[in-house]
Amino acid sequence: MTKAAVDIYDPVFVKGIFDRCSRRYILFSTFCSMGFTERWRRQCVERLDLPGTGGLSGFDLMAGTGEVWPHLFRRHPDVSDITAVDISSGMHKLAMERLHRERSHRIAFVEDDVFASNLPATSADFILSTFGLKTFNETQLRELADLTARLLRPGGRFSFIEASDPKGWFLRPLYLLYLKGILPLVERLFLRGAQDFAMIGTYCTNFGDARRFADMLREAGLKVEFRRHFFGCATGVSGFKP
Ligand SMILES: C[S@@+](CC[C@H](N)C(=O)[O-])C[C@H]1O[C@@H](n2cnc3c(N)ncnc32)[C@H](O)[C@@H]1O
Repeated sequence: MTKAAVDIYDPVFVKGIFDRCSRRYILFSTFCSMGFTERWRRQCVERLDLPGTGGLSGFDLMAGTGEVWPHLFRRHPDVSDITAVDISSGMHKLAMERLHRERSHRIAFVEDDVFASNLPATSADFILSTFGLKTFNETQLRELADLTARLLRPGGRFSFIEASDPKGWFLRPLYLLYLKGILPLVERLFLRGAQDFAMIGTYCTNFGDARRFADMLREAGLKVEFRRHFFGCATGVSGFKP
């Protein structure tokens, strides 16, 4: 297959990337983002704004190694269970074996493409997703917006955040140089020539920001707020189902 023929939004291609980099994912994402990813996960949970009535259950879509769960359980100890959905078995195995054993009774896992996973309609008090948007193209984002509306109960809340292209920021050229030049170099030098994290820059600039996704969620019937974080280096959408 020639390089031009590769569809970087094909779920099989995306799964391959995350299966290969699951062991190094947390270290790389924390270290190379200089702690920003952790801060953005916390802010994504803050935007979820759950009612505190107890016994709440919901989904963490594109859950990875469950990086957001400590933030969620700290802010909302009354959340009773989360169903984590991720296409990469590597990411989830690592999550359960090494990182979240003490929380495992509160976490169910669906290892599947989120669009093929047949999740039950109107079953969620909340939907959370951190850094799971950029590997979707326009059609898939629209599908995700419709899925979000379908899964939430009336009154259910959602919050998504994603690394974004900070258009208009005077330091954008430096930021892009970091994403597309320095990160791939660090990966090649320190991770035995791997080129998986190098894809992140391409996915981020193709994604742009979460504004279009906000519109798609509105068109799916949800109340939506859009928010920029740190000059637009990340953008988030949050809201509820009326
Ligand atoms: C950048 S990671 C984010 C992980 C985690 N949520 C975090 O905060 O770091 C993106 C995750 O989305 C998952 N993913 C990508 N496409 C998917 C799909 N179609 N269905 C389910 N999971 C998918 C990948 O396997 C990966 O674990």
